[in-house]
Amino acid sequence: EKGGYDHFMLKEIHEQPRAYRDTMLGRISEDGKSVVLPELKITPEKLRSINRVHIVACGTAMHAGLVGKNVIESLVRIPVETDVASEYRYRSPIITPDTLVIVVSQSGETADTLAALREAQRCGAPVLAITNVVGSSVAREADDVIITLAGPEIAVASTKAYTSQLIAFYLFGLYWAQTNGTQDEATIVNVLAAMQALPEQVEHVLAQAEVIKQVAESISNHSSLFFIGRGVDYAVAMEGSLKLKEISYIHSEAYAAGELKHGTLALIEEGTPVIALITQEALYEKTLSNIKEVKARGADVLGIVNEGYVHEVARSVDRIFAIPRTLPVLTPALSVVPLQLLSYYASLALGHDVDKPRNLAKSVTVE
Ligand code: BG6
Repeated sequence: EKGGYDHFMLKEIHEQPRAYRDTMLGRISEDGKSVVLPELKITPEKLRSINRVHIVACGTAMHAGLVGKNVIESLVRIPVETDVASEYRYRSPIITPDTLVIVVSQSGETADTLAALREAQRCGAPVLAITNVVGSSVAREADDVIITLAGPEIAVASTKAYTSQLIAFYLFGLYWAQTNGTQDEATIVNVLAAMQALPEQVEHVLAQAEVIKQVAESISNHSSLFFIGRGVDYAVAMEGSLKLKEISYIHSEAYAAGELKHGTLALIEEGTPVIALITQEALYEKTLSNIKEVKARGADVLGIVNEGYVHEVARSVDRIFAIPRTLPVLTPALSVVPLQLLSYYASLALGHDVDKPRNLAKSVTVE
């Protein structure tokens, strides 16, 4: 049932190209010019009246929501807040009928997320669910549902469900942008074409797993490390850090690259591993200078970069991993993959139960 892989997690990491294709299947018009989501009941008029978005979820699904915030804000230009479900419902969030609440849940059964959904509906807001399970509680109760087609996810640490949630956000963001007219056709066509190239690009990343395996083995004897990045790279850094903690039990922290010197730079010592994501063209110079700051303090840096920047970044890092070229908004769908592999191989090197980490459950149906 593990399809020849040693663990479900590794199998699921490798299923991502298929999960991307399946989640996009039938949702992009044949001419490649628009997104079609016939399952949505929310009307174009209603979508145009929405003036704020709350994305609510737990764990890895919340991290997908952090990328979702970037997607919606950049494509639709509507303010988005992403929050942890267990916080959201107890802080008297400002929810109006013109707020779209998006809940994200692989299982569709997470109690905190379900409670947030109910609170949003009580306040009269439409709720859109992004979930992997048809017929789950979240899918049944939400007003609208976009199903991710990741297929069953068995490993506790979420991989293909997370990336399929990213694909769902891209599709919905583009659909909304075309509905509201916030992006022209050429932009939409361009993003859709780049999305369709993602599955093959993920294959390309997976083919370089050996490089990541070596880094994972070298970090496995450290007790603490950092993930840094800016913009969506920071959102992906948070997911990479969570994944590592979940299954390898190595402590790590994700930091906005520019914030290090306002906080924890003192914790960077000789040999401290730092995983630096540097995929955003517009932030390239800024992140590079942050990498130089940690290097100057002795950090052992793995740079995860855009193919186009390998030569320039190589001089400032110890090791480099290149992801294929894509649009800035889409990089998380590629850059998270080496981080998934990193946590997998670190957990393996330490002899932990990769698929069933201690103290965690696949879905938590109590608050
Ligand atoms: C946690 C799981 O309990 O719930 C995480 O251990 C998961 O892996 C989180 O990301 C949210 O789960 P779901 O099913 O709502 O996406």
